[in-house]
Amino acid sequence: MAQGTLVALDIGTSKVCALIAEFGRDGRLTVIGHGTVPSSGLKKGAVVNIDQTVRSIRDAVERAERLSGWQIAEAFVGVGGAQIESFNSTGQVAVASHTREVARDDIRRAIEQARTVPIPSSREVLHVERRGFIVDGQEGVKDPLGMSALRLEVETHIVTAPATAFQNLMKCVAQAGVKVDEPVVNALASAEAVANDTERELGVAVADLGAGTIDLAMFNEGSPYHTRVVPVGGTNVTNDVAIGMKTSLPVAEELKIQYGTCDLTGLDPEETIAVSVLGEDAGRTVSRLELCQIIESRMRETFELLAGEMRSAGGGMLPAGLILTGGGSQLAGVAELGREVLQMPVRVVSPTGVGGLTDSILTPAYSTAIGLLQWGASFLEEGQPSRFESAPAGGIFGRIRDAIRGLFP
Ligand SMILES: Nc1ncnc2c1ncn2[C@@H]1O[C@H](COP(=O)(O)OP(=O)(O)OP(=O)(O)O)[C@@H](O)[C@H]1O
Ligand SMILES: [Mg+2]
Repeated sequence: MAQGTLVALDIGTSKVCALIAEFGRDGRLTVIGHGTVPSSGLKKGAVVNIDQTVRSIRDAVERAERLSGWQIAEAFVGVGGAQIESFNSTGQVAVASHTREVARDDIRRAIEQARTVPIPSSREVLHVERRGFIVDGQEGVKDPLGMSALRLEVETHIVTAPATAFQNLMKCVAQAGVKVDEPVVNALASAEAVANDTERELGVAVADLGAGTIDLAMFNEGSPYHTRVVPVGGTNVTNDVAIGMKTSLPVAEELKIQYGTCDLTGLDPEETIAVSVLGEDAGRTVSRLELCQIIESRMRETFELLAGEMRSAGGGMLPAGLILTGGGSQLAGVAELGREVLQMPVRVVSPTGVGGLTDSILTPAYSTAIGLLQWGASFLEEGQPSRFESAPAGGIFGRIRDAIRGLFP
């Protein structure tokens, strides 16, 4: 029996995807509707054309609705864009009650305190994730509620987005007729789908290689400590191929996907690809080695940028390594090249943990969308969003139950 219905909306640079899922009493997510359409109104994860973006969202939503027979009212919406930033902040309060027992209100005040760092009005706070508590100097407390203490300290991870870019995205979703349950930064959504609790506890980085950007989230002790967006993606690789091979972008994209690899070892310098097969420039051939050299060099540069971003985060070792996901992680040889450049374990992971209509979606390009469903499910599971700063007005539980408004006529 279903406990609730959830909707995920991943508005990406290359595609817009809507997923509808039932969340069962057994904790399982079953996808009952899915719509993916090409996206044309975004650049590097940010909206540059409202009308086109609204149209793509509407199309994706309609497809998911038609497939499921349900109508979408609300959704968990992924937020991307190159200007996502994050920082960590601590808040400290004296425990108020005379019994010296930590109450909900102490936790709330400590988090408020952590939030008092000056954040410019040009930025929107997307997340205030609790990393952990320190109770009278005792570190590593996950849930201090009811503990005896004089002082309570909270460590938070705060993620912000540029306010106007965020508002433009919210505007598009609203104009497409969908209310937002909660905006979730893409990197944290994808991590839900591909990194498990043990990896997060040990220390792991998740990089979602998209068309326009790389969404990066780094975890240790079970929580995120660095969330960023690196402004390069698969489109840069395709552009390089188009320029280097003197082809159109669609042909370059096909060459990359069908014949591309980052692993140059063993490639035959004589091997050629007939471009005419791809419907253009009849009779012309290109060298596969040359194609792959272009791809390898751009991907190497991409991993170097990622390495720089990861180094700047500090935070020590990542024993569980780097998990690659996103459409761009499907490029052959990408994990091997990542391992060589980053000097750490690197692997490509597809999203898991959902059943139902999973035909094309258990692939890396759907990590954000599936992660958004899992993010929403964790709200339902907990009844009360203890991992978040405060319950949204009206209580998320009641609102999710309304996420779907009845059957189609
Ligand atoms: N088999 C493949 N080999 C190489 N690249 C691929 C493959 N399949 C997809 N891609 C690339 O993945 C990218 C799309 O990935 P994804 O769907 O995750 O992006 P997006 O979510 O729309 O974009 P973003 O997250 O940057 O806003 C494209 O650049 C595409 O060329
Ligand atoms: Mg994406």
